[in-house]
Amino acid sequence: MVKLDTLPAPLGLLAELTHRCPLGCPYCSNPLVLDKRDDELDANTWSRVFREASALGVLQVHLSGGEPAARRDLPEIVSGAREAGLYSNLITSAVGLTAQTLAVLAEAGLDHVQISVQDSDEASADHIAGYKGASVRKRALAAEVVKLGLPLTINMVVHRANIGRIEPMVEMALSLGARRVEIAHVQYYGWALKNRSALMPTREQVDEAVRQVEMLRARHHGKIVIDAVVPDYFARFPKPCVGGWGRRSLNVTPAGRVLPCHAAEVIPGLEFWNVRDHALAEIWRAAPAFSAFRGFDWMEEPCRSCARKEQDFGGCRCQAFLITGNARAADPVCHLSPHHDRVEQLAAARVDVAYSYRTA
Ligand code: SF4
Ligand code: FES
Repeated sequence: MVKLDTLPAPLGLLAELTHRCPLGCPYCSNPLVLDKRDDELDANTWSRVFREASALGVLQVHLSGGEPAARRDLPEIVSGAREAGLYSNLITSAVGLTAQTLAVLAEAGLDHVQISVQDSDEASADHIAGYKGASVRKRALAAEVVKLGLPLTINMVVHRANIGRIEPMVEMALSLGARRVEIAHVQYYGWALKNRSALMPTREQVDEAVRQVEMLRARHHGKIVIDAVVPDYFARFPKPCVGGWGRRSLNVTPAGRVLPCHAAEVIPGLEFWNVRDHALAEIWRAAPAFSAFRGFDWMEEPCRSCARKEQDFGGCRCQAFLITGNARAADPVCHLSPHHDRVEQLAAARVDVAYSYRTA
């Protein structure tokens, strides 16, 4: 058991302000059943949550969704983060966020903006987003972010349809004035899991993408930071998902449930507490869902006796459950997992079907 006085302090809070979103990206990791508008926390409650998070040691809040700009009270929410002393990062699709609102957010204390971009090819980008004209709006808003002097990160989710355009996508991020680009391979949760075989790249595409990233890092060294990791299903070892369960971060859903990671609700039997009923510190310390996979006692072999367990914490609990049916199992992405062959089969399963777009 992790002793309460040795509990790590969380560093980051993912605040899912709303599940509403104008786009329909088939790789969305939001749950298939979305929180309703009427259930969303109000701005005052978010401000209280931010103060509690700050007192707990959290340094950064990621204002996410859905599309956070779907909330009219976003400036008030940003002010709440600033007053709590948190560094605020707005994660936006840029659709539905006007230049005027962005300026108000900057005035309210917003520190950083991350815009998702679906592709460097406009028609493909709009097709992936399920929204005609999205690409043009994203470029326009990125220019406004830079004009306001806010640091900009471009986030690109890559999959079979766009993985061949890593180079133009990075060039595009550079031309937009981004300081950082995140090349994020699809993670198969929520809607992405539903679309897995339509999104899955080939091994050759993944290998080429890794080469491209190395080449681009060398070419643009000092001009832009390129974040990229080998995608889960093609890696030998799993990612240390969320920095270890209940170790580094908290995720608050639009309706106030506090999760150790954004996908945790897929694991049956976990009990999540709500910020409407409990203080954040109490949730971090004592909520059953946070205690469930903290430390190492819950682990089964091969993780239990593995030297890497303090590095990767056995990988992702949600993925372990989704693929093996057992949330305590090693993440089957790990080549030491007895279920690893299942990941290899899934990585080889590609079907060219129409996307199942995320619906509100
Ligand atoms: Fe990580 Fe478990 Fe694999 Fe070891 S066996 S590398 S701890 S997932
Ligand atoms: Fe839940 Fe990885 S997404 S632990």
